Amino acid sequence: MPAKRSTTIPAARSATRTAASGRAAATSRRAASPTKQPARPRTRAASPDGATRTVTSQPWLHQKGVVIQEFGTVRQFPIGLSYDARMYSCQRLNQTLADSQILYALYKKHHWLMRGATFYQLHLLLDKHADEQLELVDQIAERIQTLGGVAVGDPRHVAEITRIQRAPDGVEEVPAMLSRLLEAHEMILADAHDAAARTADMGDDGSNDLLVSDVIRTGEMEAWFLAEHLVDTPLVQA
Ligand SMILES: [Fe+2]
Repeated sequence: MPAKRSTTIPAARSATRTAASGRAAATSRRAASPTKQPARPRTRAASPDGATRTVTSQPWLHQKGVVIQEFGTVRQFPIGLSYDARMYSCQRLNQTLADSQILYALYKKHHWLMRGATFYQLHLLLDKHADEQLELVDQIAERIQTLGGVAVGDPRHVAEITRIQRAPDGVEEVPAMLSRLLEAHEMILADAHDAAARTADMGDDGSNDLLVSDVIRTGEMEAWFLAEHLVDTPLVQA
C-alpha cells in the first residue's frame, strides 16, 4: 500500500519504515541534486496551552543570498566619529590587515620550511611571531567592523590587496627567508606610522591606538628578534 502523502512526519513513523522503503529513500537522496533542499521532516507538537504547531530541527542547507554590505563601504555607527573618518580608517586598516595576513602566512611557511643548525630555535621563534600576527589580524579586523566597515577576509581577496611580494613556492636559503620577513615588517611598519598619524588627525584615536600600541610595537619587537639572527658573528672565537 503506497505511503500516504503528508506534510507531517512523526519521528515514530521514520523509525518503523521497512528496510525496502529505507533503501528506496537512500537511492532517491543519492540521485537528488546536492543543491536541492530535501523535504524537511516535521512533526506536530502540542504547546502547554493546548495549541499545536509544526516544529523541525532540519537545518536549511545550501543557501545562497545577496551581498548586504559591499566591501569598501561603512555603516553608520553612533561612536562619535564622522563618516569620512571611519571610511578613511577602514581603508588604511584593510591595507594593514591584508599585509598582516600575508606576514602571518609567511611566518607559518618559514616556520615549516626552516632548516639548518638553528632549526629548532628559529622554528619556535617564527611560530611565536605567527601567533602574535594572528592575534593582530583579529584585532585589526574587529576594529574595521567596529567602525562599520568590512574587513578583508578571503585569502584570495587578501592577495589582491597586499603589497608584500609573493615568496617562491619552493624553499629559499635561511637568511633569505629571514630577510624576506624583515622586508614585510618594514613595509607594514612604514605604512602603519603614516596611517597612525593620519587617523589621529581625522579624530580616530582608537585606530591610532591600535596602530601604535599593537601593530607598530609588535612589529618592531619581532623585527628586532629577526634582525639579530642576520648578524654574522663568530660563535666560539673572537
Ligand atoms: Fe608548528
